[in-house]
Amino acid sequence: MTQGSFISFEGGEGAGKSTQIRRLAERLQTAGHDVVVTREPGGSSGAEAIRELLVNGEADRWSPVTETLLMYAARRDHVERVIRPALAEGKFVLCDRFADSTRAYQGAGGDAPASLIAALEDHVLAGTVPGLTLILDLPAEVGLARAEARGGAARFESKGLPFHERLRAGYLEIARQEPERCVVIGADAALDAVTDAIWAAVAQRLNL
Ligand SMILES: Nc1ncnc2c1ncn2[C@@H]1O[C@H](COP(=O)(O)OP(=O)(O)OP(=O)(O)O)[C@@H](O)[C@H]1O
Ligand SMILES: [Mg+2]
Repeated sequence: MTQGSFISFEGGEGAGKSTQIRRLAERLQTAGHDVVVTREPGGSSGAEAIRELLVNGEADRWSPVTETLLMYAARRDHVERVIRPALAEGKFVLCDRFADSTRAYQGAGGDAPASLIAALEDHVLAGTVPGLTLILDLPAEVGLARAEARGGAARFESKGLPFHERLRAGYLEIARQEPERCVVIGADAALDAVTDAIWAAVAQRLNL
């Protein structure tokens, strides 16, 4: 069986990742595809246990390097137990955040060294990387206001506007460095317009 397609959704808080991933999953399922929707940090039972350590508590609970290592412990479990098996069965894997979130949050937003993050990507992911990454881009204050309106201020949302602006710049830099993998989607638009832009990118990149 041919390998499935691995698509990651990235962007800051409130960008619309979770909303849009559900919509893309429905559209692909309607077209007859097998789809697995998953998320990070988490996505497997071990990784969900690590998630609890990452998303709760004080903003400065972990240093950026410690946070990177926890993220990669969770990511390895998720890759081994969920993502690789699904891809081996030829499924679409839609992942709400993946490795670029570490580059953006702990790297650009924090101060985890890019060399450490790159080494973890190499050794821990060992080639299990998305073929397509959709980066949902919008002003940090718009995303934070959406996330706040939705409720449940979580640990990363409490890190302050300058952090979230570094994050946004970090994501745009990733897209600039890897244009063959990444598509930037303007997310400061109506829900349906964002859905349409995502479908256009997916259909074009994956020849659907
Ligand atoms: N294009 C949009 N226009 C207006 N509101 C939106 C749009 N997209 C999402 N929202 C709303 O903003 C809130 C956050 O959306 P969503 O949870 O999908 O974002 P997210 O990127 O998954 O956020 P987080 O990083 O916090 O998980 C939700 O209440 C959602 O309904
Ligand atoms: Mg979400």
